[in-house]
Amino acid sequence: MALLTLTHAHLAFGHVPLLDGADFSLEAGERVGLIGRNGTGKSSLLKILAGLERPDDGSLQLQSGVRIVYVPQEPVFSEAATVFDTVAEGVAEARALRERFEAHAPGDDLDALQTRLEALGGWTWEQRVDETLQRLRLDPAAVMGSLSGGTR
Ligand SMILES: Nc1ncnc2c1ncn2[C@@H]1O[C@H](COP(=O)(O)OP(=O)(O)OP(=O)(O)O)[C@@H](O)[C@H]1O
Ligand SMILES: [Mg+2]
Repeated sequence: MALLTLTHAHLAFGHVPLLDGADFSLEAGERVGLIGRNGTGKSSLLKILAGLERPDDGSLQLQSGVRIVYVPQEPVFSEAATVFDTVAEGVAEARALRERFEAHAPGDDLDALQTRLEALGGWTWEQRVDETLQRLRLDPAAVMGSLSGGTR
């Protein structure tokens, strides 16, 4: 089964349809590039696939356990944040859960927290952020506001 399947999607703002019965599916390990002229609906399609917007018609099915992360075309960064903290926003749930697990707050179900942490790879989130930064040769301590447009 595909990781995600969009079937017969329709979307229009006004009269011209952006999606007119569009079908799309993504298999495990696939990498897909989406090419089209400006304003023809690439971002709109991606927002639908991420569940951020709904098509006028059609259906989106996700394989159970699939997690989608949407990187906006023009991301808004906190200027004072470091590159490390900004990239770590991609694993924000794992980071928050581990902080909660380590805080041992009364009333927290530690077994449930641990299960969710394992599912999210929460024990190794720092390592994964570091690996990503190393691969892209980014300085984790640099402040977002000091980066060039391309580096951002
Ligand atoms: N919320 C909205 N309300 C009205 N019109 C919208 C809305 N979102 C997108 N549009 C219009 O839909 C069309 C497709 O926009 P979209 O952002 O999906 O294009 P795109 O292919 O990603 O373009 P680009 O290559 O410039 O990023 C554009 O004409 C845009 O103005
Ligand atoms: Mg776009």
